[in-house]
Amino acid sequence: MLNNFPLWPQQASTLAAHVDALYIFLLIVTGMMALLVFTLIIYFAARYRHRPGVRAEQIEGSNALEITWSAIPFLIFMVIFIWGAQVYFKERTPPTDAAEVYVVAKQWMWKVEHAEGQREINELHVPVGRDVKLIMTSQDVIHSFYIPAFRIKQDVLPGRYTVEWFHATKPGVYHLFCAEYCGTQHSGMVGSIIVQEPAQYEAWMNGNSNGPLSGSGEKIFAELGCATCHRSDIQGRGPNLQGVFGKPVQLEDGRMLTADENYLRESILDPGSKRLKGFQPIMPTFQGLVSEEQLNALVAYIKSISLSNPMGGAKTSASGAVSGESSDNEGKTHTLPNGTKVQ
Ligand code: CUA
Repeated sequence: MLNNFPLWPQQASTLAAHVDALYIFLLIVTGMMALLVFTLIIYFAARYRHRPGVRAEQIEGSNALEITWSAIPFLIFMVIFIWGAQVYFKERTPPTDAAEVYVVAKQWMWKVEHAEGQREINELHVPVGRDVKLIMTSQDVIHSFYIPAFRIKQDVLPGRYTVEWFHATKPGVYHLFCAEYCGTQHSGMVGSIIVQEPAQYEAWMNGNSNGPLSGSGEKIFAELGCATCHRSDIQGRGPNLQGVFGKPVQLEDGRMLTADENYLRESILDPGSKRLKGFQPIMPTFQGLVSEEQLNALVAYIKSISLSNPMGGAKTSASGAVSGESSDNEGKTHTLPNGTKVQ
């Protein structure tokens, strides 16, 4: 119904209906309050207007009335608060098995890289009916990744990751906007979210792969010499990174925290800040040595050797590290939708 209402963006994600329902409720409540206030103003102005010979009667107050006009708004606000919190937590909590897409914002474009290795600029292809989690950072200033049809918007900050997620429900092409003023071309920092049927998406993906992002991460890991300290066979001078991601870790200063994307990122750029217990502060900083894209690849790689199936990660890694060249060539072999392979 709302799709034919021109003031309303399309509802194209699982979150959209929840956000709209709350929004409509707020509109109705505030509309009714405004109507009530204006009606009373007009009624009182007429009813108690100045008339010759009639003296105003003074009223000293009424506890019953004051309690009523405090309690009713309080209850209405509590409904809004609890409802809003529910929608907020739904929107802020990505499902654990969501497909992951890395987004790097810069003045003035969106660079997107899928975990499977596809890269896009100002476009994001996703399949319909799948949870997608965006892991986002900025190369320069604050931007904001906004998809009105999905009812999601999240600031994208330099120096750390922020996350948002969605589950697209309808194939189509939807607007992507930057929703944070970021310089002269801010209004041109737009793009498209292309939601496809799974089969179409599969075909698109096969035609665009450069090999998985974790594979590029493995190569960078090798090129930067990370593996000399972070060994996977024995405990080296740095922590063994297999199985680290998503686990609680103990820091030298006694704190416990979970090794998430932001922790990995910070440990690469500023290794001293949250050093693991039992390790010397010998790791150099990689600030300025790795680009945002390379950082994303490194994070994806460390995740890949940690998640459910460590052998899967190790396999990708072996092909990437041992013969970087041949895996490059593999990356250039595309399978067309009709099944033919092209180099
Ligand atoms: Cu980027 Cu506004």
